[in-house]
Amino acid sequence: MSADPDRPPEFAAGELARRSPPGRSPTPSGRSARDWDASTYDRISGPQQRWAAEQLDRLHLHGDEVVLDAGCGSGRVTLELVRRVPRGRVYAVDAAPSMVAHTRQALGDRVTALCQDLAQLELPEPVDVVFSNATFHWIADHDALFAALHRNLKPGGRLLAQCGGRGNVDAFRRVADEVAAEPPFAAHFVGWQGPWNYAGAQETAQRLQGAGFVDVECWLQDKPTEPEEPRSFVSTVCLVRHLDLVPDDLRDPFIDAVMERAGRPLVLHYVRLNMSARRGRADAPGLF
Ligand SMILES: C[S@@+](CC[C@H](N)C(=O)[O-])C[C@H]1O[C@@H](n2cnc3c(N)ncnc32)[C@H](O)[C@@H]1O
Repeated sequence: MSADPDRPPEFAAGELARRSPPGRSPTPSGRSARDWDASTYDRISGPQQRWAAEQLDRLHLHGDEVVLDAGCGSGRVTLELVRRVPRGRVYAVDAAPSMVAHTRQALGDRVTALCQDLAQLELPEPVDVVFSNATFHWIADHDALFAALHRNLKPGGRLLAQCGGRGNVDAFRRVADEVAAEPPFAAHFVGWQGPWNYAGAQETAQRLQGAGFVDVECWLQDKPTEPEEPRSFVSTVCLVRHLDLVPDDLRDPFIDAVMERAGRPLVLHYVRLNMSARRGRADAPGLF
């Protein structure tokens, strides 16, 4: 909790590390277990940008809304949101300190960028729209996530999100699991399952309704993808949490072993889970 009770909780890198689940932090290299390489992500995240662009085409805005980019990453998608609400405001929230710093640097005072865990989200004001791309599958507890998003929406406010869904990058994940189970890597992965939650459409619809959302629609979509810089892409995105666990001298050998077995050209079989929903108009405001 911050010292000022009126200020929403925003945490620094060290505090983030302390809040990470036991056994995941500090990492062998001392990195926060939730951080990312924001500048590399900004360069190689073409696939995420394309998925976000498709979503933004479905997000009809008047231009004066208060919008949250939930899991803003390096801020590239956030910029597209900023352009769509010239008379509104955009909050950009991410749990990774480097992503929040990158977003602040890229967008300056055009956004309010906050370092928070979305499952415990506390915004300074309720929003009209929660937008999210390629983020929710990184959060294990979707009940807590949807409850937090619902609390921070105005009555009648909308949620439009896409993340990895059931079956997402299954073949690549199997390869990474196989490599992680072998020496010299196995000792670093004992008992580890990763943070991901690749949920199905029906269970997600039920969860959203359970959190109080109405007009819920969820569906899965295949998106096979061939990244332009395969090694940088998998190191920065698909293997980012695996690499937290291996010591620095085993990082390249781990990436090499996974790349070798994943085959060339590298095609990642992405499955996206789309969701749209609304907070009921009659809902009493929660936090606000
Ligand atoms: C693949 S990136 C997507 C970033 C951006 N939305 C985009 O489309 O480029 C996933 C993001 O989710 C963030 N994230 C993961 N777990 C989170 C959590 N519990 N709370 C907030 N952000 C989280 C990561 O830090 C990362 O920036």
